[in-house]
Amino acid sequence: MPKSEVKTSLLDNMIGVGDSVLLEPLTEDTFLENLKNRFDHSEIYTYIGSVVISVNPYRHLPIYTPEKVEEYRNRNFYELSPHIYALADEAYRSLRDQDKDQCILITGESGAGKTEASKLVMSYVAAVCGKGAEVNQVKEQLLQSNPVLEAFGNAKTMRNDNSSRFGKYMDIEFDFKGDPLGGVISNYLLEKSRVVKQPRGERNFHIFYQLLSGGSEDLLKQLKLEREFNQYNYLGLDSAKVNGVDDAANFRTVKNAMQIVGFLDDEVVLVLEVVAAVLKLGNIEFKPESRVNGLDESRIQDKNELKEICELLGQDQAVLERAFSFRTVEAKQEKVSTTLNVAQAYYARDALAKNLYNRLFTWLVNRINESIKAQTKVRKKVMGVLDIYGFEIFENNSFEQFIINYCNEKLQQIFIELTLKEEQEEYIKEGIEWTHIEYFNNAIICELIENNTNGILAMLDEECLRPGTVTDETFLEKLNQVCAVHERFESRMSKSSRFLNDTTLPHNCFRIQHYAGKVMYHVEGFVDKNNDLLYRDLSQAMWKTNHVLVKSLFPEGNPAKMSLKRPPTAGSQFKASVATLMKNLQTKNPNYIRCIKPNDQKAPHVFAEGLVCHQVRYLGLMENVRVRRAGYAFKQPYESCLERYKMLCSQTWPHWRQGSRDGVKVLLTELQIPPEEFSYGRSKIFIRNPRTLFELEDLRKRRLEDLATLIQKIYRGWKCRTNFLLMKKSQIIISAWTKRHFQRKKYLQLKRVTLIIQSYIRGWKARKLLRELKHQKRCEESATTIAAYWRGFQARMEVRQLKEAAMHKHAIAVIWAYWLGYEVRREYRKFFRANAGKKIYEFTIQRIMQKYFLELKKKLPSMSPTEKTWPPRPYLFLDDTHTELKRIFHLWRCKKYRDQFTEQKKAIFEEKLEASELFKDKKALYTNSVQQPFQGDYLEISKNPKYQKLNGAVEENIVLADVVNKINRANGKGAPRIFLLTQSNFILADQKSGQIKSTIPVNDITSVSVSKQTDGLFAVHLKEGSTAAAKGDFLFTSDRLIEIITKLYRTIFFKTNQKINVEINNEFLVQFNQDKVCVKFIQGAQKNGNLPTCKRKNNRLLEVTVP
Ligand SMILES: Nc1ncnc2c1ncn2[C@@H]1O[C@H](COP(=O)(O)OP(=O)(O)O)[C@@H](O)[C@H]1O
Ligand SMILES: [Mg+2]
Repeated sequence: MPKSEVKTSLLDNMIGVGDSVLLEPLTEDTFLENLKNRFDHSEIYTYIGSVVISVNPYRHLPIYTPEKVEEYRNRNFYELSPHIYALADEAYRSLRDQDKDQCILITGESGAGKTEASKLVMSYVAAVCGKGAEVNQVKEQLLQSNPVLEAFGNAKTMRNDNSSRFGKYMDIEFDFKGDPLGGVISNYLLEKSRVVKQPRGERNFHIFYQLLSGGSEDLLKQLKLEREFNQYNYLGLDSAKVNGVDDAANFRTVKNAMQIVGFLDDEVVLVLEVVAAVLKLGNIEFKPESRVNGLDESRIQDKNELKEICELLGQDQAVLERAFSFRTVEAKQEKVSTTLNVAQAYYARDALAKNLYNRLFTWLVNRINESIKAQTKVRKKVMGVLDIYGFEIFENNSFEQFIINYCNEKLQQIFIELTLKEEQEEYIKEGIEWTHIEYFNNAIICELIENNTNGILAMLDEECLRPGTVTDETFLEKLNQVCAVHERFESRMSKSSRFLNDTTLPHNCFRIQHYAGKVMYHVEGFVDKNNDLLYRDLSQAMWKTNHVLVKSLFPEGNPAKMSLKRPPTAGSQFKASVATLMKNLQTKNPNYIRCIKPNDQKAPHVFAEGLVCHQVRYLGLMENVRVRRAGYAFKQPYESCLERYKMLCSQTWPHWRQGSRDGVKVLLTELQIPPEEFSYGRSKIFIRNPRTLFELEDLRKRRLEDLATLIQKIYRGWKCRTNFLLMKKSQIIISAWTKRHFQRKKYLQLKRVTLIIQSYIRGWKARKLLRELKHQKRCEESATTIAAYWRGFQARMEVRQLKEAAMHKHAIAVIWAYWLGYEVRREYRKFFRANAGKKIYEFTIQRIMQKYFLELKKKLPSMSPTEKTWPPRPYLFLDDTHTELKRIFHLWRCKKYRDQFTEQKKAIFEEKLEASELFKDKKALYTNSVQQPFQGDYLEISKNPKYQKLNGAVEENIVLADVVNKINRANGKGAPRIFLLTQSNFILADQKSGQIKSTIPVNDITSVSVSKQTDGLFAVHLKEGSTAAAKGDFLFTSDRLIEIITKLYRTIFFKTNQKINVEINNEFLVQFNQDKVCVKFIQGAQKNGNLPTCKRKNNRLLEVTVP
């Protein structure tokens, strides 16, 4: 079910009575009982008609959630249980929909919840009004102006931990759609005396504590501040910390809020510098100093603080110091400088601190206004929210309380004006029957205070401006003279000695019976505070600083703009601004929130009936209820009423031509609303019960829905019909075009078909004709053909006959020839067989041989003796011949080859051949020697001068000369020797000197022994008994073993014609001296290359290790 259709009422589930107008019976007791009952059930809001009474719960209630906002959005005021949101919604909607500027007036004592209520209103409006980036930024700025102002303008008091110490009125501006455009804030009288002094248990303004707790080390250093509160005289010590308040966190919130509102970083620093300067001013102390002329003078005790302040503000220290010690009075072009005593110096210091802070606060408000002001010039709708200090009664009440309470009197006035007086007066004016209700009108108190001729404020101003000595006492005296007779004024000294014996009233006090109770004011400080004077020397000193912000705060310090005129007093300034405010509020539709404080202890769940009763009384709530009960809930001019509801009656809808009053009558009669529910005034209709109004609204809503349905119906009908006609028209066009298209298509097809049939028929006819013609022609041709064939046939028959005849003739001739041949052969056969066969055979063989040789000649292989190839054999019967020819050819070829050799070369080959016969396949060393040519003389003995002697000793030709290793018979070690072989001897000589060691005739050599291996060891066996054999056989090693032995063998053969024995074996015997020694070859690792190693093992064994 949609939300709007849920039928709810504030009567549903109601605790007590939600709207006091419905209380039965209505007495003060039932009223209070109802408030208490609801308060105990956490229902803190109660209505009196459209006024909201709010009782401070002093605890968090779950009734401010976004869901709640949604619940109250766009609902009728009396539909849901009482809430500030209902009031805010009502105000916002009538602003948006009925174009009425609104103001929300929040009143109540200090700590009753005004500021909270104003924030709730603002946040509700922010939540329900338009959305979008730009709108959201405006909303954020408006909302964030609160924390900034609260930090600088709020403080902890006895009544309230977050008490506003200034009055605030904020206009929120909207466009025609209800989207916020911006705002304007007005501030009223900041309680600046708090800067220098706070009552017991109270604090200075929040910002000082926030800055010291939350500022970073760097920031504090930059501002020349210490973190401890007790360093500063201006900070009350006994309640520096407030329970549940995190100053450091709040400082971050404030800085963030300043940023959102649009303060530049530089500006924030400037502001904090001023705050720091104010704080430090409190630490400047003075000491008395007597002068010769008897005048007292003061001196600054510790100049360090002064120096730091001057550094902060960019001030010349001497200028400020002088401003604290002298006062210049200027009158009629005369300047008189007087020195200040200690008390005056302190006064000057405090005045400067207060002024500086107050002006900073005003600057802040203006700066915020600059940021949040609407950017467009379009007409704006305005909602004003007034949160001003509540009525205050303290133990010691001074000028501030007087001003604050005056302001509250004025607000009560406007409440009375708008709700009580005006309403009653209107009934009378409209001629409605009415019984007057008595209520207390506080206009008389306002008169007492603000009357221009004899009001208290006027007296004070007069006293301040009067020449001569003026003190607070003279002021009181004056009051006693002028106001003594006033019924609301009381004092001990008053002329009518009514209070002469009232000991509760001290002599320096006066008492006023405010609408909210009696308040006693101490006159002390009234004159000063009203004068609000800052010594000119100080403002001039301030103007001289280099600090842009401070300089701009003291424009009157500029000597060029100096005027002798006194500035307006604080009282008259305040009076003027309150008057403006009142005028402003009167142009707007008021909405009231009346805040009530349930107890003095800020405690939840405590409802002090006496305290509440007092507030109910002075707020005039009972009168308020009575007026509401007697009166009418709703009134409206006839014109607008008719305009709004005329659709509910057939006669007035859509146009009513006669007077609107008659129209409304007709309307209400037709709607059958009971006559006691309304009255006809002169220009307005008065509706007694809200419920009647809601009924009307409901009917209107339903009727509007019906009308909407009707309009919708007609529109839809029209739309469908137009659509239908359009479709019909298009359908005809489409069908015409379709028909045309199909006919055309059909026609074209027919045409095509006709053409095809036509062509087929024509073709068929043509072919038929052709066929006939062809047949005719063929008939003609066939006759000719038949004739031709016949003639051909005749001719062929004739030819065949002729051929047969000729053939017969030929056959006879052949047969005859054959017969003759046969006869001849038979006769000659015997001669042929005897000779011819043999001859043919011989001839054939001859021819084949001839051919064979010729071909062989062509295919002969090369002349190289190593060539192995031979052409293949062509005929089997020539097999032997072919092989033989191959052998012969090879021999011949070799002979040819040999014939080229010289004698010398032949000898070399013979030697090689000899070596081959001796060693091939017997000794492994042989294969190596095949490639080596046998040179014989390797040493060139005849040419080498070294061997001259040796050469001389040898007479014959040298067959071989080489160096060999002679193996020592005893130990097997080798020594190099020249080995010379001539035709008849072999000679061993020393290798170095060529000295002949031994000469052995070759005849004495019997045999030679070698191994089968690759080694070069050989033994030369000698004839037993010869001279050479005395020592025994020789053992040598040489790489050229094959050549040496071959040459030795051949030389011995040439010399003796005998072949010596060459033994090839791995084991042989040698004769050493008398011993027969076995030379044994064994395989082993070689130490010195390829040379064999010999080792004499014992007498019988010489071991040779070979690779
Ligand atoms: N609706 C509320 N819900 C919860 N606490 C509230 C409410 N209204 C006021 N308070 C409490 O009362 C204190 C004083 O309220 P405040 O609005 O500052 O009083 P005033 O402005 O009238 O002096 C607040 O700090 C808050 O703790
Ligand atoms: Mg407040």
